[in-house]
Amino acid sequence: MNVKDRVVIVTGSGSGIGKEIMKRLTAHGAKGVVVDMNREAADKTAGEINAAGESAIAVTCNCTNKADVQAMVEETMSSFGKIDILVNNVGILRDNYLAKMPEADWDVVLNVNLKSYFLCSQAVVSNMMAAQYGRIINISSRAWLGNAGQANYSAAKGGIVSLTRTMALELGKFNITSNCIAPGVIDTPLIRSLRPDVQERLAKAQPTSRFGTPAEIAYAAHFFASDEAWYMTGQVLHICGGKSLGIYGH
Ligand SMILES: NC(=O)c1ccc[n+]([C@@H]2O[C@H](COP(=O)([O-])OP(=O)(O)OC[C@H]3O[C@@H](n4cnc5c(N)ncnc54)[C@H](O)[C@@H]3O)[C@@H](O)[C@H]2O)c1
Repeated sequence: MNVKDRVVIVTGSGSGIGKEIMKRLTAHGAKGVVVDMNREAADKTAGEINAAGESAIAVTCNCTNKADVQAMVEETMSSFGKIDILVNNVGILRDNYLAKMPEADWDVVLNVNLKSYFLCSQAVVSNMMAAQYGRIINISSRAWLGNAGQANYSAAKGGIVSLTRTMALELGKFNITSNCIAPGVIDTPLIRSLRPDVQERLAKAQPTSRFGTPAEIAYAAHFFASDEAWYMTGQVLHICGGKSLGIYGH
């Protein structure tokens, strides 16, 4: 799964799944652009990578802000001269039942979890098209199939699947692939911020009865990011302990 000397941007790589993807790709020779709105977290990820003798820079960026995204792409180009791989990964939760969901919670989740994927993809594709090479990996969620209490999150994650498929259709002729990973419940700060009883209910609602790990998502991202994955595009890979198969009761 070759990614050597490829330049990879991972949004939200200051924490959780994004951080693990970034560490795996740089450990296999990619040059990393650690993008996060949390400066301290971005610096920490990049610092750990450089301390291990690999290569990364940290860039502070709010991925919902077009000017920030443009500046992040310019910084990547001036540091590394190209962009081979984009992993759109930022995501937040503002869960509530539809009847109770504040409009502001709908708006912020759609902005962070969907619009930022559009903005970051749009900002990198002209460079990828000129280079006739690119790998775009979008982190959706098993929740794209629907999840009670997550109308905003599910809608955004379903939008990511549609965006992924459309980009695959538009960009294939430029040797750019676009694929999606739909994780189940993965052990990250995002999930650990939920109430313990909610965490337990989530773990029991899937055949494997355990949380997944960020490393289990990073393996798949590494494949999609690699040269060898060229013939696979527009696909959704569920890594969710079987939860995408349907209702499961113990
Ligand atoms: N953890 C899970 O169980 C799970 C399951 C399915 C999908 N996902 C998805 O995986 C992705 C990563 O989730 P995680 O659990 O690692 O989350 P996390 O909270 O651990 O990390 C998310 C990172 O994104 C950054 N971020 C948030 N908004 C941003 C913005 N506007 N601009 C720049 N950076 C921003 C945060 O600062 C944080 O460092 C998300 O898209 C999430 O929806 C997670």
